[in-house]
Amino acid sequence: MGGTDQARCTRRSPAATNVGNSKENNGGVTRNLPVDAVINLDHGDPTMYESYWRTLGDDECTFVIKGYESLSYFSNPKNPCWFLEPKLEESIKSLHGAVGNAATDGYSIVVGTGSSQLLQAVLYAVTSHDQPNQINVVSAAPYYSSYPEITDLVRSGLYKWAGDAHQFDKNEPYVEFVTSPNNPSGVIRGPVVNGGGGILVHDLAYYWPQYTPITSSLEFDIMLFTASKCTGHAGSRIGWALVKDKEVAKKMTKFMEVITIGVSKESQLRVAKILQVIVDRCKCFGSPEGHNFFEFGKNLLTKRWEILRETVKQNKMFILPKYPLQHCNYTGDVTQAHPAFAWIKCKDGTDCEKLFRNHNILTRGGRKFGSDPGFVRVSMLGREEEFNLFIDRLSMIQIFNKGDGHENENLD
Ligand SMILES: Cc1ncc(COP(=O)(O)O)c(C=O)c1O
Repeated sequence: MGGTDQARCTRRSPAATNVGNSKENNGGVTRNLPVDAVINLDHGDPTMYESYWRTLGDDECTFVIKGYESLSYFSNPKNPCWFLEPKLEESIKSLHGAVGNAATDGYSIVVGTGSSQLLQAVLYAVTSHDQPNQINVVSAAPYYSSYPEITDLVRSGLYKWAGDAHQFDKNEPYVEFVTSPNNPSGVIRGPVVNGGGGILVHDLAYYWPQYTPITSSLEFDIMLFTASKCTGHAGSRIGWALVKDKEVAKKMTKFMEVITIGVSKESQLRVAKILQVIVDRCKCFGSPEGHNFFEFGKNLLTKRWEILRETVKQNKMFILPKYPLQHCNYTGDVTQAHPAFAWIKCKDGTDCEKLFRNHNILTRGGRKFGSDPGFVRVSMLGREEEFNLFIDRLSMIQIFNKGDGHENENLD
């Protein structure tokens, strides 16, 4: 560790070391939800990261933009993505280099208004205007619930949603979205369609050390990332694509040029600053102050998953996925995944979404992910208070159901 890193490693004191005591770890975010409040764990809104960012000094992440700055549409006319701010490009490359999750050498970076916009740009860029039929777009179920909507919203003549990749057996061109780790199930995945000639789009929104062990630096043709899930800054709406083929990068850029004439410079510069702050603290592990961002996220999610698994074990009503132990090249630890979502099923086949709704917990049902409606996806990324209420109610479900004689007799 260099001298500068060491100096940085002994600075302020975020809440990462306190994550064990979840009730105390609000990082100044006190909201005091009423006990009967509806808690919305349907969206993957990454508000759990607020407590980390609050502990940094006001000047450390503050980014000021003056009235005369950033007026132009253009950022770097020499870049295939001419509206990509050089500072953002630099900090994206530094971050991937420091974490070791994806290669950037030889790639063009295309910035988007969230990776949601990039998903559309990719579909536009990889499909050809002279093809006779729309290209099939597939993803293995359970797939990210927005893929069908994003694909079919404008009823493009170029592509159409064709559902679960496991079921796709047509001898036709296709695009497969490969989400790894997967939203909703958290598992590491590869492509599943066997045919040649498919175009793979790797959606790596959750391939960061707080969620999963980093086992290699990926080098796929098209890789999508988003600040929303990496740093928690979903509101800035910044995503980026690492694209091997310059022509594809140019076509994606063209799409954005026509749709929005680029991406907000304020957002790009803010995220550039945030990523740089993370990079500057990225090599410090285990400092008592715990100001490594990924260490903070991993500690908090590990603790939440432990609490959730213990609660599920106690009430014996639900099933949670298990994840293998793997060596993480970034932390040097052997660890399992602690995904952004819990993919939960009721053991007795009860409709879990309905059951949770009856307890004022909003979740997303399995059907939306092309999967068994018995499953639900529960966000693990909410504020501490929401997570604690969720756990309290999960324990209550057991009491309530036992009291009502609904206990399943076939449980292990
Ligand atoms: C797998 C996956 N891809 C893409 C996105 C889109 O993220 P954003 O548009 O906020 O960058 C999300 C958001 O939840 C996601 O889970």
